[in-house]
Amino acid sequence: MIEHSIFLVGPMGAGKSTIGKLLAAELQLPFADSDKVLEDRTGADIPWIFDVEGEAGFRKRESEVLADLCAGPVQVVATGGGIVLLPGNRQLLRKQGLVVYLQASVDQLLERTSKNANRPLLQVADPRARIVELLEERDALYREVADIVCDTDHCTPKQAALMVVERLGAP
Ligand code: S3P
Repeated sequence: MIEHSIFLVGPMGAGKSTIGKLLAAELQLPFADSDKVLEDRTGADIPWIFDVEGEAGFRKRESEVLADLCAGPVQVVATGGGIVLLPGNRQLLRKQGLVVYLQASVDQLLERTSKNANRPLLQVADPRARIVELLEERDALYREVADIVCDTDHCTPKQAALMVVERLGAP
């Protein structure tokens, strides 16, 4: 019996949404994606929000969404890759539920993020360098909030979801 929400954190392309949906199905819990909730609430997509309000505006909206998701029912939540940047968000994540850090290599992250252009932070000349830079900045923050760290590099999304279930000790 899962009594706390499970929050998936990790870099863009780690598979938080794909694995999160499979994990939720496996645990028979609802699933929420913080980026999707934010977009639905704002009525605009993430690139537009970054354009109009800048990253700071996006982060403010993201914190509000996280607070609401933390106050919501028990569920599996895929978070945006930058959720750990603000200390208040990290505090919330540590206090609430279970946090799983989904890790992947730079090669995998690059491959998985190269398929679409909906991530403003990767719309740069050298996305690989950007991914490396973001990981250097954020890896310690993901670890700070995580109860469990899972490497998703050598497994399918289904295998990753099952690995999380096993690590959680869930039935
Ligand atoms: C971001 C990650 C994105 C999205 C936004 C910013 C980040 O989410 O929240 O583009 O700062 O790493 P995903 O990790 O789901 O791609």
